[in-house]
Amino acid sequence: MAKNPKAPTVARSTIDITPLRQANLPIIFILGGPGSGKGTQCAKIVEKYGYTHLSSGDLLRDEVASGSERGKQLTDIMQRGELVPLDVVLDLLKEAMLSKLSTSKGYLIDGYPREVAQGIQFESEINPCALVIYFEVSDDVMTARLMNRGLTSGRVDDNEETIRKRLDTFHKHSLPVVEHYGSKCRTISAEAHPDEVFQKVSEALETLS
Ligand code: AP5
Repeated sequence: MAKNPKAPTVARSTIDITPLRQANLPIIFILGGPGSGKGTQCAKIVEKYGYTHLSSGDLLRDEVASGSERGKQLTDIMQRGELVPLDVVLDLLKEAMLSKLSTSKGYLIDGYPREVAQGIQFESEINPCALVIYFEVSDDVMTARLMNRGLTSGRVDDNEETIRKRLDTFHKHSLPVVEHYGSKCRTISAEAHPDEVFQKVSEALETLS
């Protein structure tokens, strides 16, 4: 795949993912714009179905908080509401998936893939996903939720300007992912109460068993 010469360079690590590929556990991608409720629904899925929840955003924030060289390079990108380089997110996911392999019955990958190329690379290097769930919410509702969360979250990207950029990034790069997965993707309207949304999520997940 051609590399973008303008993309920032971030340190990579070498990871042997043979055990992960061989285990072939179910993989579910969770998609949705900023504040669409991905994390909220994933917590409910974990409680009911026991999958291993890995949020790409949380993994990136953990890396930033660790003070590592890789983390320092990520802060600016996230503050701008842009996507961090594809290889970096995939490395973090591989490391986290491997570390949970012995106790996992399947993975919920939250906030990934954020662009079609991420999905293609993940599935060619690890395994194909079993299901994609997309939470559909209007920009106005997502913005209101994040502005409200920003009062207490302490997240550097929960402010009006960055939220606008996150929404732009979502429309430009992430919405095409929904189209890419076609019938493998369940679109769920996610503006209702979290329990009502979860009812639909459960129906989608029951198709896996
Ligand atoms: P990330 O951490 O993934 O942030 P996000 O996608 O912007 O989403 P959020 O975590 O803010 O929201 P959410 O959908 O989980 O909603 P939540 O449940 O919290 O990514 C952050 C940054 O990291 C990106 O901008 C990018 O720079 C980078 N990044 C991450 N992944 C990447 C990748 N794969 N590739 C490249 N870069 C990547 O809910 C939000 C609020 O709404 C909460 O207050 C909640 O209580 C409330 N709420 C939830 N559901 C409902 C409901 N049904 N009704 C009312 N309120 C609700």
